[in-house]
Amino acid sequence: MDDPVTAALEELHGRLAVLRDGEVAAYIPQLALADPDAFGLALCSMAGHRYQAGEADLPFTIQSVSKPFVYALAVGDLGPQEMLRRVGAEPSGDSFNAVSLEPGTGRPANPMVNAGAIATTALVRAESPAERFGRILRVLSAFAGRELDVDEDVYASEARTGDRNRALAYLMRSAGSLDGDPDEAVDVYFRQCAVRVTAADLAVMAATLAGGGRNPVSGEQVVAEPDAVRTLAIMATCGMYDGAGQWLLDVGLPAKSGVAGGLIACSPGRFGVAVYSPPLNQAGNPVRGVAALTEMSARFGLHLM
Ligand code: DON
Repeated sequence: MDDPVTAALEELHGRLAVLRDGEVAAYIPQLALADPDAFGLALCSMAGHRYQAGEADLPFTIQSVSKPFVYALAVGDLGPQEMLRRVGAEPSGDSFNAVSLEPGTGRPANPMVNAGAIATTALVRAESPAERFGRILRVLSAFAGRELDVDEDVYASEARTGDRNRALAYLMRSAGSLDGDPDEAVDVYFRQCAVRVTAADLAVMAATLAGGGRNPVSGEQVVAEPDAVRTLAIMATCGMYDGAGQWLLDVGLPAKSGVAGGLIACSPGRFGVAVYSPPLNQAGNPVRGVAALTEMSARFGLHLM
């Protein structure tokens, strides 16, 4: 007999696997190769207990789900005041790749949209882009509790086609909100987005944020507790882009989605949940992931409000 958590995940998986809405992202050509039927669910508790259903061990690229973790790293480097001066904390009400820059200063609206994430990545302290990416990969690995790597094919695919992100970086440099070379900044960001994870990894990463920055499986304090709390607050208001308001109404948890099909949600002090399912809705959020978390929130009373 399965334990009750696994049984609940398996039941949800069985029911939602038949959903056929949404489109697999194709603007990064390599992502279009994903199997639209792949579907995994995973949960990690504060005690470090791990549960999963479906294809929770299938690797995919983290994409925008990397943004909150890199934000937590950058806040630790800069401190909250300087971080806020460089990257805002207001929902943009726009899509993830919008030109969300404050008139005059060029400050990006928040660290969850692409502009803000590129600026955040560039703020991670390092002497060189290679050292910066090394720190990012190490912190993502510490959140996951295992050594992660890069999907070189997805990285190369985005590097070839990512003109919109390159344009955002150049706009920010011209407005004075990005220091250094825009191409180098975007290159580190593309590598960060191409880090390979599974839903099981993402559940541990989400649980680490939900637990004040301490990985409940490895026991490592990965980021300071106040930095994890700030990150959760920004995920709550900005993590689901222009679907953030509806998400907070329906699910009521800090969350972050990615275009490869990853989604995390954090129940502070309780657990982290992750879903992998590539088809996305209009806001760029995974359809089965949104459905799964909406049901879990209602059934288990997870809504924070
Ligand atoms: O920058 C991009 O467009 C991608 N590397 C990541 C975007 C993303 O995951 C948006 N999330 N739904």
